[in-house]
This record gives sequence, C-alpha cells and structure tokens, in this order.
Amino acid sequence: MDHFNYQQGHLHAEEVALSRIAAAAGTPVYIYSAATLRRHFGLFQQALDWTDHMICYAVKANSNLAILRLMADMGAGMDVVSGGEYARAKAAGVPGERIVFSGVGKTVAEMRQALEGGIRQFNVESEPELRALSQLADSMGAEAPIAIRVNPDVDAKTHEKIATGKSENKFGIPIARAREVYAEAAKLPGIRVTGIDMHIGSQLTDLDPYAQAYAKMADLTRALRADGHEITRLDMGGGLGIPYRRDNSAPPLPIEYGQVIRDAVGDLGCEIEIEPGRNIVGNAGVLLASVIYVKQGEGRDFLILDAAMNDLLRPAMYGAHHDIVPVNEPAVGVDVLPYDVVGPVCETGDTFQKGTQLPAMLAGDLVAFRSAGAYGAVMASEYNTRPLVPEVLVDGDQFAVIRARPSIEEILSRDTIPEWF
Ligand code: LLP
Repeated sequence: MDHFNYQQGHLHAEEVALSRIAAAAGTPVYIYSAATLRRHFGLFQQALDWTDHMICYAVKANSNLAILRLMADMGAGMDVVSGGEYARAKAAGVPGERIVFSGVGKTVAEMRQALEGGIRQFNVESEPELRALSQLADSMGAEAPIAIRVNPDVDAKTHEKIATGKSENKFGIPIARAREVYAEAAKLPGIRVTGIDMHIGSQLTDLDPYAQAYAKMADLTRALRADGHEITRLDMGGGLGIPYRRDNSAPPLPIEYGQVIRDAVGDLGCEIEIEPGRNIVGNAGVLLASVIYVKQGEGRDFLILDAAMNDLLRPAMYGAHHDIVPVNEPAVGVDVLPYDVVGPVCETGDTFQKGTQLPAMLAGDLVAFRSAGAYGAVMASEYNTRPLVPEVLVDGDQFAVIRARPSIEEILSRDTIPEWF
C-alpha cells in the first residue's frame, strides 16, 4: 500500500496535489511520500520483531540525504557500497556502528574511510579484499569487524542483470570454499569475524530461492561454529520484490519473508540483519512528467514527455515496466487511446512503453510513472545535457525540494577547456 491516491479527481501524494508540485518545482520531478517510507520500514520491523535485528537500508536504491535521515530517525542502519554512500550515511546522521559496507571492489581508501569513521561490519567478498583489509586495519592498529559474503549458488529467478547468487556471478565467495576462507580470516591480524552475509539478487518475487539460500546459511553457521568461529550475526541481504503492476498478483509480503528467515535460521541465536532497498522506497516514489507533444506517427500516436531514459533508466536498461497514469483521473466511460510513450532523447531506446492505454492526452497534461522511488533518481544522468532530475519529499500536507534541479550554467561550469587551446 502507498499514499498516492486520487482525491477530487486529481492524483495526490498524501495531502498534496501533484500539480501543485509541478507548478512549484517543474517537471520532470521525482516525488516521494514520507508516510509510505515509514509504513514500509515498519513492515520490516514487524517482520523481524521475533529477534534481535537491524534493518540496514540499501542506500543505493535511493540515497537522497532526506530519505536517509528519515530512515535513520526510525532506527535504520545502512548498507553502503562506496565511499560516497558511506559519506552520505554519515552526513544523514547515521553512526558508523550502524553502517555495513558491501561491494566487490572496495578500495583501500574506502576501507580506511570506514575504519576511521566507524563501521558495523565489512561484508568481504574475496580473499584479496580480506588480505588488503587485514593489512590496512593492522597498520592502523584497528580491528575490522567482518562477515564474509558467501555465494550459495541459488537461482533467484529474477532478471539476469540483477541476479547475484549463482556461481557464475561475480559476487561473494563460493560456498564450497567458505570454511577455508573463514579459517584464513581467523588467523589474520586486524580482522574480527562476526558473521555470514548473503545477497542473492533483487526484485525477487518468490520466497523459494531465499529458503534454499538461507538453509545453506544455517548449515554453514553450524559448520563454522564447529570449526571454532564465533558467528553471532547473519546478514540475509535484500532483494524482496515489489508489485510494479497494479493488476498482477503481488510478491510476498515482508511478514512472509520474515517467517522464511525465522524458519531457516531462527534457532541459531544470531542477530539478524537485512538490507532491503527497493521494497522500502520503490512504491514510495513517482516520477512526474509533462506531455510536450502528441505526435501522430504511422499507425500509432507518440506521447512525447519531458522525462526521458536519462531520468528513469530502468525501462531502457532492463525492459522494466512502470505503470504510467494520468494525473487527472479520467472520467468514467471516457475514451482511452493507445500511445507509445517516449522521451526526447535521441535514441529509439528512449521508449518507456508501447501501446499504453491512456485517456486522450494533450500537450501540457501531467502523467506519473508509478513505483519509481527505487533505482530511479540514483540511476539518472545528464545525457543529452538534460539537467539531473530534481526530487521532492511530501510529508502530510507539506512538501520540500530535497534536491534542486541544477541550472544549465552549473552543468557547464563543471567542464574546463584546457588553457593551451
Ligand atoms: N544488498 C546488496 C549487497 C545489494 O547488492 C542490493 C542491491 C541490495 C542489498 C538491495 O536490494 P533491493 O532490496 O533493493 O532489491 N538497478 C536495479 C537493481 C540493482 C540492485 C543491486 N543490488 C534495478 O533497477 O532493478
């Protein structure tokens, strides 16, 4: 459930009409609902209330400082994958002890930044990384808390570009080698083993792959304990999917996901960490766009929007679907027409949808892309020198611009023409 609804025939985010935001901030613009974010975070808390846990929000899904602060205020930890994301989490007021650091390519500079600023744990993804971290921590007289990310070789049954738990993927250490690597970790200076980490993919709509992966995690916990390691924390990763279409059967709920975790590892007495991103923020955001032109093509009408692939990359990158809805609610019985919905970027790939049924549209009309809160603004670029799309947060009857649209002058001022030209 989210807080984007029609009121008096007009799409609102909570109590604010989207047209008011369009008038104040212009389009295209991302709009987030604070009530939806709080609700989704609360569902994960409920799902894990049977145990000691920390919900480490996956910053990559939406890293705006206002969003991070809102999460932090509810007690969230953060899962970061770069020095930049680490700095964002800290800037939002998250203490280092609540930040886990994931990713296959952490640089020494990034690991130093986290050791200096405080860190809950590094999710280590390879032996070379483990050795580099050991050397660094030891040289700093520090101790790096770690979990090792284990690749369970499970098919997450999601889009191939976002599946991470098969042996052919670059992520984690093959589960067959895990005991050997933990044995090495236990001997290395500057390293303190705390637990095990897994993340098998994103937009999972089936709990079965989780059950398979977590069963392997439970077995590994027992084996590692038998080897003498103290395993006190299990990081179950993120990835629980969201409904992208209003009309199909919804993916499992956080409460059902929590039960799968409980069934698999609930008897091990470990603190549970999860790293959800999309499930918290995905349906808490829309991308609002205006129609620039309605263009008659050969056998089809194009709806040319002021939003493009550079603002919302998911359709071009993964063939992803985002429901596109008119901001003015169509009157009952009004004619609907098929449109190919496209952006102004000079690529045929800049097509959001083909044959979308919408009420007859005119230039200047507003449409909203649903489910755009996760992997939307964060994946935007300035391709075609289109200013980075701004972001607005709604909370009840108030709203604020939480990232302003840069001016063309600001964009140009980042480039330098060499003085010898
Ligand atoms: N933890 C780790 C280690 C991850 O790599 C990810 C996502 C998450 C947590 C959060 O997963 P979530 O709960 O959001 O599914 N750009 C793609 C999604 C990439 C996901 C990458 N990793 C998309 O737009 O679908």
